[in-house]
Amino acid sequence: MTTNDPIHEAVRERYGAIASGQSSSCCGSASDCCGSASPNTLLYDTTLLDGLPVDVTSLSLGCGDPVSIASLKPGETVVDLGSGGGIDSFLAARQVGPSGLVIGVDMTPAMLDKANANKARMGVTNVEFRKGQIEALPVDSNTVDVIMSNCVINLSPDKRAVFREAFRVLKPGGRVSISDIVTEGDFTAEMRADAEKWAECVTGAIDAAEYTGLMREAGFVDIQVVDKVSAEAIIERRDGMPRIYSARITAYKPA
Ligand SMILES: C[S@@+](CC[C@H](N)C(=O)[O-])C[C@H]1O[C@@H](n2cnc3c(N)ncnc32)[C@H](O)[C@@H]1O
Repeated sequence: MTTNDPIHEAVRERYGAIASGQSSSCCGSASDCCGSASPNTLLYDTTLLDGLPVDVTSLSLGCGDPVSIASLKPGETVVDLGSGGGIDSFLAARQVGPSGLVIGVDMTPAMLDKANANKARMGVTNVEFRKGQIEALPVDSNTVDVIMSNCVINLSPDKRAVFREAFRVLKPGGRVSISDIVTEGDFTAEMRADAEKWAECVTGAIDAAEYTGLMREAGFVDIQVVDKVSAEAIIERRDGMPRIYSARITAYKPA
């Protein structure tokens, strides 16, 4: 199922343009976050990126490193929400090995094309990219060990549905490992109405307490904000905006 929510449209348009090389920034014009290759690879321990082609690292659009805190094991099944060009999916694929599977879900056709081209070039066989929205995952219930996501849930107009879906597809005892933009305080309704800024990973972000509250409401337990660092060096913050952070969050579906 896909929706024609104006936010989805704005987000699809932005990431379609980035994937097809017509734009290079996702987090705002003044920022290096989520768009330009070289600064963004600093999100990761460089040894983690060894051997990844530049076509993958140059399309790193995240705001953190969710893979390193996921404790992935050989044979596990991982879903990467909003997989983009596939950087985290490919990193996870190395860790789950040939007996594991990584399913990257993204709604932007040009981004899926990039990810699939990268997959073919790398000869990776344990990653599958599926077209879909993270609010209605194209994944069976109770089949996934780990939900991963990097700088995507802030973009969703229906975060409650995203967490409900993540909970549905996880096996009992499954876990979540997320990097995302969160705030301290709220954007005004007027700021939130700016779909362009929303698509830049800014005005769709919500207060960290509301974020973890939605996870709790979906059924997650042991929710931890592992780290929360100011994102204001990479996201232009204007007067009246709340403080903006990049956070890493982990949680579990009860066993
Ligand atoms: C900021 S980029 C992050 C990409 C990737 N996680 C990374 O770290 O490079 C956001 C990605 O999420 C996808 N996306 C945003 N909202 C989505 C939604 N509701 N459903 C599916 N994909 C979505 C976009 O198409 C885009 O590829």
